[in-house]
Amino acid sequence: MTTCSAPGKVYLFGEHAVVYGEPAVPCAVERRARVTAEPRDDDRVRVSADDLSLNGFTVTWGGGVDDRPDVDAPPALVEAAMRYVDEAVAQTRDALDDPEQGFEITVESDIPLGAGLGSSAAVVVAAIKAATAAVGVDLSAEAVAERAFRAEYAAQDGQASRADTFCSAVGGAVHVEGDDTRRLDAPQLPFVVGYDGGAGDTGELVAGVRDLREQHGFAADTVGAIGDLTRSGEALLDDAASNGLTDERLAALGELLDVDHGLLSALGVSARSLDEMVWAAREAGATGAKLTGAGGGGCVVALDRTDATETALELTPACERAFRAELATEGVRTESE
Ligand code: PMV
Repeated sequence: MTTCSAPGKVYLFGEHAVVYGEPAVPCAVERRARVTAEPRDDDRVRVSADDLSLNGFTVTWGGGVDDRPDVDAPPALVEAAMRYVDEAVAQTRDALDDPEQGFEITVESDIPLGAGLGSSAAVVVAAIKAATAAVGVDLSAEAVAERAFRAEYAAQDGQASRADTFCSAVGGAVHVEGDDTRRLDAPQLPFVVGYDGGAGDTGELVAGVRDLREQHGFAADTVGAIGDLTRSGEALLDDAASNGLTDERLAALGELLDVDHGLLSALGVSARSLDEMVWAAREAGATGAKLTGAGGGGCVVALDRTDATETALELTPACERAFRAELATEGVRTESE
């Protein structure tokens, strides 16, 4: 039996623009999904997941795609969650070169689902690492990242970028630009996350930006400006990694977060709840704040070394939950064997 964990993520810079080949900088945060895997003697897969906001379910199903679980939960939700686990198991079997290996899998996660914090990627990354390790195969973080990307790509019908899975597997701050993914040098960053309890529809939001970009030159320029801002942000991170995250550098990074949020708003992907949380964070003394992920609802990320932003967010009606989430310098890791 092997337990592995993998972190969720926030976007420091670059969501949406990354769809058009601009760079983005997702950062892994210390909120983890933990997956325990144990090989079975048959070809069946049994999954238990108590806190995936599915109100708790335990299902057993066979290896075949037609053999669906019989559980008391909305079928669409179970179907969506099962696709990720199915695809993670498929990648594991491929890595093991054993299409009939069965598993007992337990999933626990303290990453809110569907909030743009990369919960599905973290589950897929931890599941592939744990299931392969349980059969004695040691995959590198990069190999896990590649297989997790393929699993998400299949589960999301080809609508997946490498950002979430790569970031979760290798940890830290990463650079994503098309297929170019690599880890960046970055200092420890004082992230505070505010969550409105909801989620935007990523497909719809991406399509909205695409339409705007096709209709208006300003929108294409805005996407380009997000790319420029991300490049400046990467240079700042590099400087702070080498020379320390002084208050001045934290303020400069925060300023870029604020501008990024403004550009994302211009592209139509913010929401009243996100704006309220962003302003609450700024007024509390965060050096900057922005929405993270697709937008439309979900989460904001702010930078603040003090407790003031977290407290202010907790008191903001639009905010359901606020928490501090340090940069997770470690990606996927084995917790116990
Ligand atoms: O909401 P998330 O974390 O899935 O992020 C979506 C990021 C986008 O850039 C809007 C879309 C994408 O696939 O990169």
